Formats: sequence, C-alpha cells, structure tokens
Amino acid sequence: MVTRSRVLSAGSYLPARIVTNDELAKTIDTNDEWIRQRTGIRQRHIAAEGELTSDLAVAASHQALENAGLKGSDVDCIILGTCTPDHTFPATATRVQHVLGAKGFAMDVGAVCSGFVFALAAADNFIRLGQVKNALVIGAETFSRILDWKDRGTCVLFGDGAGAVVLQASEGKGNKSDQGILSTHLFSDGAHYERLYVDGGPSATQTTGHVKMDGREVFRHAVVNLAAAIDVAIAANNINADEVDWLVPHQANRRIIDSMGHRLKLPEERAVITVDRHANTSAASIPLALAEAVNDGRIKRGQLVLMEAMGGGFTWGSALVRW
Ligand code: UT7
Repeated sequence: MVTRSRVLSAGSYLPARIVTNDELAKTIDTNDEWIRQRTGIRQRHIAAEGELTSDLAVAASHQALENAGLKGSDVDCIILGTCTPDHTFPATATRVQHVLGAKGFAMDVGAVCSGFVFALAAADNFIRLGQVKNALVIGAETFSRILDWKDRGTCVLFGDGAGAVVLQASEGKGNKSDQGILSTHLFSDGAHYERLYVDGGPSATQTTGHVKMDGREVFRHAVVNLAAAIDVAIAANNINADEVDWLVPHQANRRIIDSMGHRLKLPEERAVITVDRHANTSAASIPLALAEAVNDGRIKRGQLVLMEAMGGGFTWGSALVRW
C-alpha cells in the first residue's frame, strides 16, 4: 500500500468584469482578428479595483471546499501558486488561511504560469510523506496589475482569475489504477530568465514592474518543453498516450494547446479549452479549466487527466492524475 493524494474537488472564481478584444482595440493598436488568430483569445476577466489575489483565491477555495464537503478548519496545508501576491510579503496564502480558518501551514509558490503544477507537486509530496492530510492547492493571479497596458505584445494575452483543488491523503496500490496524483514532473532552466520576466521587484528596483516577453522565443521553447513534460509523464506511468482521457493544459495560446493535443493523438474535444474566454491567467489557468470540466460533468471519476504548463524562468512541468 502507498499513500496517494486523491483530488476530492475543484472550484474557481473569475472577476465580474469582462474585457473583449474590441474593447482593448479602442485604447491600443490591436484588433480582434489578430488576437483570435494568433492566440485564440476572445476576452479576459479583469479584477475590480481593490479586489486582490487573496480575494480571488478565497472565492475559488470556498467553492472547492464546498464541493469536497469539507470546512476550512479541515485543511492542514495551503499552497498557493501566484506571481501577483497581495504584498511582497507575507505569503498571500497566509491571508487565505486566516479567512478560511485553516490549520497547519500556508505558503506561496512562485513558478509563474507553471505555479499550479509546482504547487500541486509540493502538496502531493507533503501528503505522500504523511505530513499533511487535507491540502488546498490554489492558483490565483491578478496579472492585470503587472501588465504594461501600452504594450500590445503582452497586455492582450493575460487575464485575472483563480482556481483551487482539495487533495486528501488516501491509500493506493501503487500502480496506475490508483485514484489520485500518479506523478508530477517539474523542470526549470534559468538561462532563459529574461525571455519572460517582470522588470521590477523589491531587490532589483524597489518597484513592482511590468511583464516583458519575447513571445516568439517563449512559444518556440514552450512547444518543445511541454512535449517533453508530456512524454515523461506517459513514460513514468507506463501508459500509452491514448489512455489519457483529458488534457488540461496551461492556457496561453490555442496553437500551443492544439499541438500538444495532436502529440497525444487526442480528439479535439478532449482538450479542455478556456483560453478563448479567460486568456492566460498564469498559475490560475489550469485549475480554472479543471474546475470547469469537473463541475460541468465532462471529467468523470476514474478518468486519466494530464496537466502541463510552462512559464517564466523558464519553468515547466506536468502532472498525471486519475480523477
Ligand atoms: O504563459 C507563459 C507562456 N507564454 C506563452 O506561451 C506565449 C508564447 N508566445 C505566443 O503565444 C506568441 O508568440 C504571441 C501570441 C505572443 C505572438 O504571436 P506571434 O505569432 O509569435 O507574433 P509575433 O510576436 O511574431 O508578432 C507578429 C506581428 C508583429 O508585427 P511585424 O513585426 O510582423 O510587423 C507584431 O508587431 O504582430 C504584431 N503584433 C500585434 N499586432 C496586433 C504583436 N502584438 C500585436 C497585437 N495586435 N496585440
């Protein structure tokens, strides 16, 4: 027998305000056709003034806990993937912990768009070591706060939101038929630090800064790195690509998602797509997509779900879960 992290539930939250491509085209030199063709994005949600990353995270967590039938006080570990914390410190996760009345410990993980996969891997390892029973894993971002709204090469690509899952320690046989997280694989390569970064920070500039991205280079590396992250998950679990029921990818660009779907020879409808409505919400994108497909009944118990993400650093990784 081995300890596995079962995924009990998922929840999400999107700010009320929707900004369409046409609305952006009123203030910067862009157009709906370019954005849709290059990225698949039609609109994004933007947090209201005074609505913080922790607020988004708490709302998503409430839904996830309710769906799991648990209370905040049942949670003994919160790991929040974010690169847009409320404050430089303390960890935004500690505010979430306080509002939910959770126990144990809470921390943030900074891996940008890979933040949810990194947070999930960390929580899974705490659970498998026997240190945690019920973990809340969150991805939450107010990315709109670090965008340069005059830079059409980046500001059209991102949005705000949050998603969360509840993990619970359970027993498994130690093979691929187990329910729960079967594997996580994490990677980073700091040689590419400046291809996707924020040009501010407490130590460097004492300012918050704005997102800078060499889009073409990020795209090129994303296709290669995500393919490798998928391959290693499949090989490590001794499964065939066609056993994967659902791809729940990071939602940066529809073209990248489609190329990963083709790699898995997955029917198009088996990739969960939210990039059209949410844009790239960084660490929130996978749990937002997961919550949508779980809560509308597409993803069913027993099915195999493959997640993959790539972000600044570069960081990238994958997680294979039997739902
Ligand atoms: O979440 C982390 C991971 N991030 C990603 O995976 C993002 C990866 N990169 C991408 O998704 C794509 O590279 C972009 C969507 C960012 C850009 O698409 P692209 O096909 O690589 O376009 P490009 O950057 O090569 O730009 C093509 C043209 C340029 O004009 P010229 O130089 O060919 O005349 C840009 O100036 O499109 C122009 N352009 C725009 N035009 C209208 C750039 N942004 C815009 C815009 N509206 N918003």
